[in-house]
Amino acid sequence: MMHPPTHAPVRRLLGSAPFGTTPTGQAVDQIEITNAGGIRLSVLSYGGVIRTIHVPDRDGTFADVALGYDTLEGYLSDTAYLGAIVGRVANRVAAGRMTVDGRELTLAQNADGNHLHGGVRGFDKAVWSMQRFERDGAAGVVLTHVSPDGDEGYPGTLRAEVTYTLDDADQLRVDYVATADAVTPVNLTQHSYFNLHGAGHGDVLDHELTLAASRFTPVNDAFIPTGELRAVQGTPLDFTSPHVIGERIGADDEQLRSALGYDHNFVIDRSEENGLALAARLYEPRSGRGVDVYTTEPGIQFYSGNFLDGRAIGKGAQPYRYRTGLALETQHFPDAPNHPEFPSIVLRPGAEYRSSTIYHFVVRP
Ligand code: GLA
Repeated sequence: MMHPPTHAPVRRLLGSAPFGTTPTGQAVDQIEITNAGGIRLSVLSYGGVIRTIHVPDRDGTFADVALGYDTLEGYLSDTAYLGAIVGRVANRVAAGRMTVDGRELTLAQNADGNHLHGGVRGFDKAVWSMQRFERDGAAGVVLTHVSPDGDEGYPGTLRAEVTYTLDDADQLRVDYVATADAVTPVNLTQHSYFNLHGAGHGDVLDHELTLAASRFTPVNDAFIPTGELRAVQGTPLDFTSPHVIGERIGADDEQLRSALGYDHNFVIDRSEENGLALAARLYEPRSGRGVDVYTTEPGIQFYSGNFLDGRAIGKGAQPYRYRTGLALETQHFPDAPNHPEFPSIVLRPGAEYRSSTIYHFVVRP
């Protein structure tokens, strides 16, 4: 007798469990979610960290493609922003100084005299409130954080909400919303590092990358943008067609020397000013695993893990060595307030900061 196919309901919320306690006594939780295809994701309330992302290869073998740690202690001593939400302002601000509406701001200087990724205690080091949800064909978590007036030098109280949604089309969507009660800069991003072999399994130099960017923002030796939007054409930064990352990373190029490899903000070629646009395609030919990144942001930082040096001991006691993970950080351009020609990152009271990014996990033959 023929039976109609039975579809067991997908259990999308796998669990919520304590993950440890910070030195100041704050409890940290982990939530695990999955989708119909078996992709699995775990998220921490500490830093809004995406701790694991299990995705299949072309034979259906799953691997965890996100760099991260087994314990909270790993995250407490992390200096690489593995998997974290970064804010208020991602990337570098020269000397931690900027003028917003005629008001001079001095932000925390935590990277060779510059401000990096929100300062000494940025959003990556905050314990966020975290709630899980499930709806038709998707599950996720909502994270909220209130950054007080004066936090790392930033003016006004800023409320941030970040939602991770994993759907049955294998898309992980990140939606950022923020409001503030004073004029403040804001530029949030997600600092996941990918290794599509599986975290801890070699480097990413054999990954193939495509960037929908015909221009980038060149930097000086302190990683600060010069203000120029420069064409990638004819340089090792041209990823407008797919290139293996290791192919040109050692090329004799002034920008690769300044940034110690790839660590640049690329200007996304958009056909429309608003909405989600394809920014990056990452593919690992041996496993067939890939991730396509879509964003509403004007820029994407491609960072090839040049500061990873084996000191960070990741999941499964694997040291994360040189270039064993890469980040694709969607964002407004770095140091924007000091370059009036760059799109503004100023948020005003009554207005809403909104940003969305999709990581679409794919398998190619
Ligand atoms: C970013 C920066 C890098 C580096 C890493 C963290 O992506 O662009 O220069 O600071 O974060 O190690």
